Amino acid sequence: KRHLISAADLTRDDALLILDTADELAKISERSIKKLPTLRGRTVVNLFFEDSTRTRISFEAAAKRLSADVINFSAKGSSVSKGESLKDTALTLEAMGADAVVIRHGASGAPHRLAGWVRGSVVNAGDGTHEHPTQALLDAFTMRRRLGPLDGRKITIVGDVLHSRVARSNVLLLATLGAEVTLVAPPTLFPVQVDSWPCEVSYDLDAVLPKSDVVMMLRVQRERMNAAFFPTEREYSRRYGLDRDRVAKMPDHAIVMHPGPMNRGMEIAAEVADSPRSTIVEQVANGVTARMAVLYLLLGGADLGGEI
Ligand code: CP
Repeated sequence: KRHLISAADLTRDDALLILDTADELAKISERSIKKLPTLRGRTVVNLFFEDSTRTRISFEAAAKRLSADVINFSAKGSSVSKGESLKDTALTLEAMGADAVVIRHGASGAPHRLAGWVRGSVVNAGDGTHEHPTQALLDAFTMRRRLGPLDGRKITIVGDVLHSRVARSNVLLLATLGAEVTLVAPPTLFPVQVDSWPCEVSYDLDAVLPKSDVVMMLRVQRERMNAAFFPTEREYSRRYGLDRDRVAKMPDHAIVMHPGPMNRGMEIAAEVADSPRSTIVEQVANGVTARMAVLYLLLGGADLGGEI
């Protein structure tokens, strides 16, 4: 495959190849080998029209660890402020010889459009409320490292599903990997098309927690929200926040995840986010490895020395 735009584009074999490649890359990095020559001479452009901390930095770190040249483009401070279109911006980058363009954009579908304009690979780093496939890959990678194969595992994803590209990509990828996903949210924070997603739906977090191997909390995206649809912060935390008492209802082996950035004290209590069950910091580290695997496979990097 040339692009990674949606988790739905990945077959089970594709997804397992990326996760297995990430495992091999993690083993190499555990041997204190910080940099591989595999993408030497290739150029990766990070094209970010929306703010990001984790995704932007981890794509940059991933490309650099594979010895690619990296160009970071942020819409703030660029000619986008003068009205330059996505297409013209893309063609400018194309002229600079981008082998891969990693794009985050506020408009759902922007990476798909971009793929029609550039010759290089396009990687979706989050488009509107649509998808964030590398987040789902790093989440699956983290779950596999903690819990083993995901077939039959029960994954609960909780919160603002309506605005969450992370939830959609996770549901699609986890179903492909054989996991059983349940989404939990207030009725106003589910998208209307959720009935067609390959998952269960619940409004009752306390009923689902004892059956969960993974509880993934989502950020409440107030910036994308009409105040009329949102319960008060206290009411939301009381019904859907993950605090110490709720964690006590989870099985002993179950883990707590959050893609970040977090609203501490709202969807997740600070003591839960910082507890040994939380994989939140691990997810960030695994993000670099998972994105290395994606870039390596899309750009057809040189052999890792018999590792794969
Ligand atoms: N999880 C995630 O996408 O974080 P950023 O918005 O900081 O990239």
